[in-house]
Amino acid sequence: MAAEYKARERYQDQGIASNYDEVRFQSWHGRLSHRIEEAGLDAAIKKYFSRPGNILDLPCGTGRLFPVMINQGFDVVGGDISEAMLDCARKKFQGKAGVSLEKMDAENLPYPENHFDYVTSYRLMTHLPRDVRRRVLDEMIRVARKILVLNFHFKVFTPLYVFNRFFRKNNCPAYPVPETEIRREFEERKNVRLLEIRKLSWYERSSALVILEKRPRQGD
Ligand SMILES: C[S@@+](CC[C@H](N)C(=O)[O-])C[C@H]1O[C@@H](n2cnc3c(N)ncnc32)[C@H](O)[C@@H]1O
Repeated sequence: MAAEYKARERYQDQGIASNYDEVRFQSWHGRLSHRIEEAGLDAAIKKYFSRPGNILDLPCGTGRLFPVMINQGFDVVGGDISEAMLDCARKKFQGKAGVSLEKMDAENLPYPENHFDYVTSYRLMTHLPRDVRRRVLDEMIRVARKILVLNFHFKVFTPLYVFNRFFRKNNCPAYPVPETEIRREFEERKNVRLLEIRKLSWYERSSALVILEKRPRQGD
């Protein structure tokens, strides 16, 4: 059942979508964040994924992180609820072997269990209220067969985080969660094992990758 939260509607706007890469990732700070996020994903893929395999990148947005996956030889399905964001991704990757793009709602994925070897997700969890986040995680875990790499923004109290939170309100996570809550949440789930929580940068400490292994069901 779909719930309302800002990021569900916001990126449907043509103007916001077509400016997304430029507004977020062209400044020196934006380029640095992008590099750091790419490097984190690259390292996680090298450590935990094996070829051949397919990856669901959800939400893919403009396909910003596809090159990391393609360059390592994986097929990628990019999913997003926004046609406008998908159009930006199509402009960059249309016709590229091994890449396909599909409109989908992360709360209700149109795939059977274990359909993808891997699931990756950047910059979504922080936009989701807790109940939606839980539903989205249920869905991502359901369709993944092996490993999930999920970007979270934790509530931390480093100077940079506090500065962003109080002085750059539009720039900060909408629903940051304490790391302890996320650890507990995944430890309680019987169908995944928490492999690692990897902070993406030494100076910011909020953005992290939560890496999960799907446990086979009894009898699988
Ligand atoms: C901040 S962007 C992140 C895009 C990309 N992962 C990145 O890191 O550049 C958030 C994206 O989440 C998408 N989104 C929001 N709610 C969604 C949902 N329920 N299902 C699929 N995509 C969703 C938006 O359309 C938007 O493209």
